[in-house]
Amino acid sequence: MKKLVVFASGSGSNFQAIIDAVENGTISAEIAGLISNKKEAGAVGRAQKHQIPVRIIPAEDPGFFVKELPRQLDIWSPDLIVLAGFLKKIPDKILKKYPRRIINIHPSLLPKYGGKGFYGQRVHQAVLDAGDDISGCTVHYVNEEYDRGDIIRQERVDVLPGDTPETLAARVLSREHQILPVVIKDLINPEN
Ligand code: GRF
Repeated sequence: MKKLVVFASGSGSNFQAIIDAVENGTISAEIAGLISNKKEAGAVGRAQKHQIPVRIIPAEDPGFFVKELPRQLDIWSPDLIVLAGFLKKIPDKILKKYPRRIINIHPSLLPKYGGKGFYGQRVHQAVLDAGDDISGCTVHYVNEEYDRGDIIRQERVDVLPGDTPETLAARVLSREHQILPVVIKDLINPEN
């Protein structure tokens, strides 16, 4: 059985889309664990509800990232690592160990509105400020630079008159829930 590890800092709705796709057999894999830097994150509650092991990155322990995190990943031995709303930078040591096996989802049509500072509603606010009539979401490989790794899949989402960052975010997020499980399936079960 292939193994997935998910990293999430927020509500974890994309994580939930992965859980659902595993449970309904769309993705044939096991979710070996969740890494979060916030113990109160919605994603953590979702993991607990589905009996998925969780490791919390303690904010007060900078050594965790360089020592404990690689060790935990060794134990879980993921075929693919999915960053689903994870707000911390992945250490180079982990990037080197899992080349082209770490992916991220971002709520814009990268390379637009990506990089440091573009997260959450800021992304959608920037799209509205620019007057774009199309936005979307992107799944990409993770490299040393925020939101700059090779793009795997993008989907466009219309910006509608009267959109606020919240309404646009909600429309983009529901598209994210569709594409992320499909990309994971294509990467780890390419034969099906
Ligand atoms: C998503 O918009 C994702 O693109 C971004 O962070 C958000 C996470 O949302 N990287 P959720 O926690 O999956 O609901």
